Amino acid sequence: MTQSTFAPRALVERAQALLAEMSLEEKIGQLQMVQSGGWHVPDHLRDAIREGRVGSVINEVDVNTVNELQRIAVQESRLGIPLLVGRDVIHGFKTVFPIPLGQAAAWDPAVVERGARISAREAAACGVNWTFAPMLDIGRDPRWGRVAEGYGEDPYLTSVLGAAAVRGFQGTDLSAPDSVAACAKHFAGYGASEAGKDYNTTNIPLNEMRNVHLPPFEAAIRAGCATVMTSFSDIDGIPATASEFLLRETLRERWGFDGVVVSDWDAVRQLAVHGLTAGDRGSAQAAALAGVDIEMASTAYADHLASLIREGDVSEEILDGLVRNILVLKLRMGLFEDPYTDASQFPTPANAAHLRAAQEAAVASIVLLKNSAGVLPLHRERLERVAVLGPLADERHEQLGTWIFDGDPEHSVPFLPALRERLGEDVQVDYVRGLPTTRSHDRHEFEAAVQAATGADAAILVVGEEAILSGEAHCRADISLPGAQEALIEAIAATGTPVVLVVMAGRALALESVVPRVHAALYAFHPGTMGGPALVDILLGVEEPRGRLPVSLPRVTGQVPIYYAHKRTGKPATPDTIIRMEDIPARATQLSVGNTSFHLDVHPSPLFPFGFGLSYSHVQYSDVRASAGNLAPGGEIVLMADVTNTGPRTIHEVAQLYLCDPVASLTRPVRQLIGFKRLTLHPGERRTVHFTVTTEQLSFIGRDGSRVAEPGQFHAWIGGDATADQRVEFSLLEQ
Ligand code: BGC
Repeated sequence: MTQSTFAPRALVERAQALLAEMSLEEKIGQLQMVQSGGWHVPDHLRDAIREGRVGSVINEVDVNTVNELQRIAVQESRLGIPLLVGRDVIHGFKTVFPIPLGQAAAWDPAVVERGARISAREAAACGVNWTFAPMLDIGRDPRWGRVAEGYGEDPYLTSVLGAAAVRGFQGTDLSAPDSVAACAKHFAGYGASEAGKDYNTTNIPLNEMRNVHLPPFEAAIRAGCATVMTSFSDIDGIPATASEFLLRETLRERWGFDGVVVSDWDAVRQLAVHGLTAGDRGSAQAAALAGVDIEMASTAYADHLASLIREGDVSEEILDGLVRNILVLKLRMGLFEDPYTDASQFPTPANAAHLRAAQEAAVASIVLLKNSAGVLPLHRERLERVAVLGPLADERHEQLGTWIFDGDPEHSVPFLPALRERLGEDVQVDYVRGLPTTRSHDRHEFEAAVQAATGADAAILVVGEEAILSGEAHCRADISLPGAQEALIEAIAATGTPVVLVVMAGRALALESVVPRVHAALYAFHPGTMGGPALVDILLGVEEPRGRLPVSLPRVTGQVPIYYAHKRTGKPATPDTIIRMEDIPARATQLSVGNTSFHLDVHPSPLFPFGFGLSYSHVQYSDVRASAGNLAPGGEIVLMADVTNTGPRTIHEVAQLYLCDPVASLTRPVRQLIGFKRLTLHPGERRTVHFTVTTEQLSFIGRDGSRVAEPGQFHAWIGGDATADQRVEFSLLEQ
């Protein structure tokens, strides 16, 4: 069993004492989360809280209304139990940080933690005491719109960043006025929705569930995450909201989690829609037995738990367990001592310091993909006229990204005004939108765009996807650039002016047909409130590009899911076994001997690999080595490499450590990230990067469900992305 949030004994005893005073109806009331009225307390909600029929509310962000809701709960209900007040604060509140996928590109837990801390403070000022974040679903299929909300394709990176988000939201003391309880979601496997279609069934082998989808949740629990949300999806015939394997066996028993489990919105009722139960009564029973403490939005518990208990279909002991978890959380959050929010004690939202942090996060999250002939950085003093083009160059709302209920586009600074301000009067900036939206096929501005680009020192094209094209229920079957954007890029490229492409998107897009046409390309995801100035700083070389891809960028949609940590298969593709469709002679006959795992019509590699990102300098890895040839079980080994900045500018490098267990009792990925370190190197500087690797880092969850590090040889690579080719070998000795 690993460490849990372990509530102090005194709190559990207080919760127990309170539980002893509660009627059956009051207990069931604690399990109910309801939608707030929004800026007022409707009569039905007032009555429900007064009568102890509500334990938590969702979506109220007016501090006076929240205080009134708490007053009714504390002063007018029989037992005076305060409310949990939940809100989706996914990547910012008033100040919007890059989407989580963008934050992941910073490969820096400090960036995520700081963003979450500021978001917590801004949300707590409105009375929110619980956020439904971080989302820890592994996103390997970018057709799925919710990849925007997660930290990418890798379990280790997601674990490190998820834990950082938990620390940021919850602070060091959950009862501090500016802390909000975090919620690790969606437990578990939601990211594997088939065909990247939201809410779809998943097919996740147990080995993959344990070694890919579950580790980030375990890391969040170890970081003290107070709550967990169930996934909407069906896993191996049992929707997560009724999964005793996930919620009892794994979360509670194996990991020792003693916080609160909340269903996703309406997910208890949906157990019947899945076909697991015949209706709400069965759904309430299944969710309660699995261990869902709070029902979000639907009312199966409220409508049926009392009769289920009276008829012996759910024991009162089970119910007491659910209620106890909720009461303990409310006690840990200090709500019984002070349920009210004094907004005057909080800093102004979106203040200068918060905006600065958002800008720094955006700078850290932008990935330079291509920079041929040193087009970037642009030298301000050499510029006379620049063309700014594209449907996302001047979009306050779109750059904020998905799921930003409280973000205020008024604070947003888009690229165009930021560039104009920075370049001042002496440089002419000609702006033509080119297309009304990213989805549009209306080419009537193409001519003007071409004219603006012709003869300019550079044409900066800001393209991608609007915020609404990713996020919940916003999935795409084709992840190339939508609308006529490719045609716009082609038209501008034909002018011969150096083209700098900036892509803003909520997912990895397939850009194989676009990148070769441009001189430089940057991936900005949706960069948030301060995306504009961050981009300008990078383009003008005020900041060094330092983002690294948290996902592989596919060449074409048909490659997905494509991720670096794939299995070897029995017939791995090698450069000399790949056959191209064009090279197959007419009337060729089918042969399987010697064939390997690839598509006929696309190179098997991604367009850009996981971990990739350029800078304005050059880096070289050399002498990858180990401190010893082997390690004993329980021991450690140090892996190192020399890293040299061979270019002309300072570099913020991310040294990445990948591992392979080439022979194991369960087949393992070709390689997997097990560590990374950021290092700043000045021109000419060489440093040695060290990774201390423990036996646990060599382990995986084996066939019997327990963690195992198997003796034998291991391979490791240290380098700048998932294709790092300098390998060192060492062995784990027998016990
Ligand atoms: C989403 C959750 C979210 C909840 C509350 C659901 O539709 O799946 O991620 O926290 O709504 O807004």
